[in-house]
Amino acid sequence: MYCRSGSNHNGETQVLISKNMADQMNAQIGNEFGASLQYVNVAGYFDNAGLPVLADFFLKQADEERMHAMKFVRYVMDAGGHLAIPAVPASRHEFKSAEEAVSLALDWEYTVTKQISALLDRASSEKDYVAHDFLEWFAREQLEEVSTMDTLLKMVQRVGESGLIDVENAVAAGRVHRKVGGVDEGH
Ligand SMILES: [Fe+2]
Ligand SMILES: [Fe+2]
Repeated sequence: MYCRSGSNHNGETQVLISKNMADQMNAQIGNEFGASLQYVNVAGYFDNAGLPVLADFFLKQADEERMHAMKFVRYVMDAGGHLAIPAVPASRHEFKSAEEAVSLALDWEYTVTKQISALLDRASSEKDYVAHDFLEWFAREQLEEVSTMDTLLKMVQRVGESGLIDVENAVAAGRVHRKVGGVDEGH
């Protein structure tokens, strides 16, 4: 467990996180909550389209994104940083097709992967190995999430809009969600 912030014998506040790192993590908390809300809207699209398994899949993804946001919240608190959650922009709720909705989700996962890489770059340049260790989990998670969303998009493209029931069956059978290395890390 990380040290909490506190005062040293000179009365100076000790923290394990720089102001810049805390700012960038706060921004990432907004990005993760943004992803969560985006996936709730995507779930709404699939529910309206009569595709309840895909709706549930995206609601579960939304829960995972919220969990990611809360992991950053806990880290900033543990490291003694100042928590300041930014405004989250309204997410898309109109989609022309399932393909458009899933492709938006895949784009989002690529964007988040870049954001996590930028956080790792900052941790390296600041020689903040505690943050680096924390962030490596997210880098692995992104591999899994990009891979899952890429598989889902390819399936949707292969069957076309009229064949989405087949995608529902594949998702229901657990054949879409990848666990990298075939191992469920139990998060
Ligand atoms: Fe995430
Ligand atoms: Fe994600």
